[in-house]
Amino acid sequence: PPRRPIVAGNWKLNPPTRSEAVTLLRLLVANFVNHRDGNEYPDDDDASDGPEVVIFPPLPYLSDAIRILEGSGILVGAQDCGMHDGGAYTGEVAPSMLLSMGCSYVLLGHSERRVHFGETDASINMALRGCLDVPGLRVVLCVGETLEEYENGMLERVIDEQLSGCLNNVDASAILRDGRVVIAYEPVWAIGTGLVATPSQAQAAHAAILNSLSRVLRCTAGEVSDGAIRIIYGGSVTPDTVLGIMDMPDVDGALVGGASLNADSFTRIYDGTN
Ligand code: G3H
Repeated sequence: PPRRPIVAGNWKLNPPTRSEAVTLLRLLVANFVNHRDGNEYPDDDDASDGPEVVIFPPLPYLSDAIRILEGSGILVGAQDCGMHDGGAYTGEVAPSMLLSMGCSYVLLGHSERRVHFGETDASINMALRGCLDVPGLRVVLCVGETLEEYENGMLERVIDEQLSGCLNNVDASAILRDGRVVIAYEPVWAIGTGLVATPSQAQAAHAAILNSLSRVLRCTAGEVSDGAIRIIYGGSVTPDTVLGIMDMPDVDGALVGGASLNADSFTRIYDGTN
């Protein structure tokens, strides 16, 4: 069956106040309701309902997001989580807590977490396994190379290293059969820079990810491409650039940063992934 596209909005550390977050959430609901004009709200797992939509707000806004988006068909996820499921770990957030409050997804391994907060493939792997231990929780795992790595022809090697580290000891069936891990290809040079990857650059990287997955998960390329895994592109996606990228055979959706803070832009990007 065709893989259901995903359009995800990562708000990062925005907006600055709760009331602005609530306003944005209400605008999104209004847009999506108008949009579907009389249609049934999409079902969580029904591909015929069009792309899956997920919003990743900052942690303090999660409960508002879950309450306001309930019944809208828009799912909610956290931008990161800890690797422990409870205990003496001050300041941490457990995967099971996120599920219990109504989150469907956790974003892991974003390059901003790696660069500014010291996350490594090994720590991301621990958090990812913690998430997969919680039935019902799904993960968007980010990988991607820096400009220097890209220019030195290291894209495939970097992606392969990140995937093998992050997916170490992860049950392949959770990925291939259950589709609980979505891979986000986010070239660091394209994030927040306006330098969106061209469709062919994105396609080449997504093909490299598929290739790497068959090595890391010890299965054939066919098993990967026929599997439930989805690969989405992130990095300066806008309503104007999403169409070309979504046209590529191995692109299953978009992870949107800046443009997800504007309800109209995000809705137009959704249209482009449909
Ligand atoms: O997670 C989202 C990405 O980092 C992309 O951000 O759309 O602002 O470039 P951006």
